Amino acid sequence: MVNFESASDLPSLYRLLERVQAKNGWAKATPAIVPEPRHSFVPHRWQFSEMRAALHVAGRLVDTQWAERRNLIMANPHPGNDYATVPTLIGAYQMVKAGEKAHSHRHTPNAMRIVLEAGPDTYTVVDGRKIPMEPGDVLLTPNWHYHGHSNEGTQDAYWIDFLDAPLVMAMGPMFFQKHPQQVEVASEMDALSPMRFAYSDYEPKLRAAAEISRKVRALTLGPETLVTFDRVVLHLEGGAQWTRDRSTANQIYTVVQGSGSSRVGDSEFEWHRGDMIAVPGWNDQQHAANEDTILIRVSDEPLMRMLNWYHTGRGMAEAKEET
Ligand SMILES: [Fe+2]
Repeated sequence: MVNFESASDLPSLYRLLERVQAKNGWAKATPAIVPEPRHSFVPHRWQFSEMRAALHVAGRLVDTQWAERRNLIMANPHPGNDYATVPTLIGAYQMVKAGEKAHSHRHTPNAMRIVLEAGPDTYTVVDGRKIPMEPGDVLLTPNWHYHGHSNEGTQDAYWIDFLDAPLVMAMGPMFFQKHPQQVEVASEMDALSPMRFAYSDYEPKLRAAAEISRKVRALTLGPETLVTFDRVVLHLEGGAQWTRDRSTANQIYTVVQGSGSSRVGDSEFEWHRGDMIAVPGWNDQQHAANEDTILIRVSDEPLMRMLNWYHTGRGMAEAKEET
């Protein structure tokens, strides 16, 4: 039994508290409950041209026979982080070479892909059904669905994977299982799978959608078979300038087509096709398109809304003072 009565001052009380694995709550070095969102994740942009070049070399050095996936993780560049892109989500570039297969497996994190480059005969196999992967396509793999990838064409395939794995890690329910067959056998082709949002299908719908801002249109890719993060496709006409209020949602943008620049918080980025931009929650955003542009935003907004934690604009404290 620790004799707390022996403490004559606060430092000696703190030393005694360490012996019972307790921390004082009145003089924390880093406050936990703060007036508005504060986290160490920073806005950042990754360039596809660099990731593509690195993956091309990894194609020589990393065999998918021993590597479950040949991918590059866009770990947010803040000290101590080697995984998450934004607090709840990870974005990763993946390459499957011509003639190669990526093993089938399933896991509790939900996943989604955006295809950047793929020739004909590139497929993802979800629950034994073969789904085409064409440039611009968005593919879903909700949690615990088996999935593998098969490039039966002659052109290397590149895409971006998004997973809510950081969220699963924070909450704990991580499970992973390999498929009993190394690559799940799939004979049936399912081009109209609800797991696929074909570029050829959503692109005309997006261009016909109502403007959310001058020269900017948006389309949500639903219905929700995957509930922790959403997918919104945005069309920015050349010359469009679009401002989005800060919100609690953690977001990642991918440039599907076009080029432009963004200001996120205090950071400024130029971007081109295939680039990925991390917008951690509570950062103001301004985007400008140099030419006809399509972006896809992946965000934990549905989760924030479900938990009643979705807020935009000014902080809760200020909003309360105003009313
Ligand atoms: Fe996976």
